Amino acid sequence: MAGIIRRLDETVVNRIAAGEVIQRPANAIKEMIENCLDARATNIQVTVKEGGLKLIQIQDNGTGIRKEDLEIVCERFTTSKLNKFEDLAAISTYGFRGEALASISHVAHVTITTKTSEGKCAYRANYCDGKLKAPPKPCAGNQGTQISVEDLFYNVSTRRKALKNPSEEYARIVEVVSRYAVHNSGKSFSVKKHGETVADVRTLANASTVDNIRAIFGNAVSRELIEVDIEEERLAFRLKGYISNANYSMKKCIFLLFINHRLVESNALKKVIETIYAAYLPKNTHPFLYLSLEIAPNNVDVNVHPTKHEVHFLHEDSIIEIVQKRIEEKLLGSNASRTYFTQVYAEKYYNNPLYFYRFIQSLFFKLHLFSILIIFYFCNFMEILSLSGLLETLDIDKPNQI
Ligand SMILES: Nc1ncnc2c1ncn2[C@@H]1O[C@H](COP(=O)(O)OP(=O)(O)OP(=O)(O)O)[C@@H](O)[C@H]1O
Ligand SMILES: [Mg+2]
Repeated sequence: MAGIIRRLDETVVNRIAAGEVIQRPANAIKEMIENCLDARATNIQVTVKEGGLKLIQIQDNGTGIRKEDLEIVCERFTTSKLNKFEDLAAISTYGFRGEALASISHVAHVTITTKTSEGKCAYRANYCDGKLKAPPKPCAGNQGTQISVEDLFYNVSTRRKALKNPSEEYARIVEVVSRYAVHNSGKSFSVKKHGETVADVRTLANASTVDNIRAIFGNAVSRELIEVDIEEERLAFRLKGYISNANYSMKKCIFLLFINHRLVESNALKKVIETIYAAYLPKNTHPFLYLSLEIAPNNVDVNVHPTKHEVHFLHEDSIIEIVQKRIEEKLLGSNASRTYFTQVYAEKYYNNPLYFYRFIQSLFFKLHLFSILIIFYFCNFMEILSLSGLLETLDIDKPNQI
């Protein structure tokens, strides 16, 4: 028997849609960071409680939201970034759907505090299920926006149960903030746990991309980076970034990929890159890569995934092929210089008679020290044995018994 088709209740529809856009706290943070960047913020601070499930607070110094817009800002399909569908082909902002804040407000309690440069004061407003709960209240505040998201998935118990590890969620949040921080040198980012004074990631506005990589991923990787800057007119793309050379490897691949400034994933590109590095790195070790691919906007479709973590672009295979070739050349170049360096180093030190003499001298010195230590420990050991009477039980002759 055929089932009866019914129209779903609007709140159910909205909650289902929200669950697709906001799958975990890190997605909410990504959407909100993109909103801050669209609002031309240069300072973005994230504070998190219980891996973002209890509280996410994000503060920026961007344009702010006009008081008149606070009424509809959390409704679905309300945006200041897109007018007509055709504009999507040349979109330069991260946002375009007017969907993110609405989604968040359908699965959490949202509070927005915001001030524009023209506004005399800031305004605070609370939202639930996309709706403003009461008229915005005037309050004190600096220019910019602070959004607090409390009790994420309070009304989606299955999702809440699935996300039971706050430290894992926090790690994902730190990963998202770190990646945006590297890609946005010239802007400062920070992320910390609520109540802590020290941030887990902090970048400064005057820091370069390499400074940010050093601050976030460590000194070891930042010393072994090769700069990449490739422009290809025929396919209308440009690739910029930093990749680790053949001297550096780690257990897990770190691959930061931005396509037209969007943090995305590309399994095809990742596979190609892993294959290139496999020829240079020890088995089961991987590289670090930060790549920013800029493609003519009309060749990119950004509207293919609810969390926007994937984009489709024209000539994908040809672009990946060229990227592969150029990265291979870069790596080969750096490896040749590494071999050269090793040769120079060997010639300078190992073939030098003075270096050889010093090396033998230090070896003898170490052997000498080692033998003194062995004698010392042996004497101590014998003394302990005699004190504990073990020598008698072992029936070892003593001088006074002779
Ligand atoms: N931090 C912010 N500063 C200034 N304006 C903001 C900020 N966050 C949101 N807005 C405003 O709220 C609107 C709705 O944001 P929301 O993220 O829901 O949609 P969007 O960014 O337009 O599109 P998308 O759903 O694709 O992200 C934005 O268009 C923007 O005008
Ligand atoms: Mg947005």
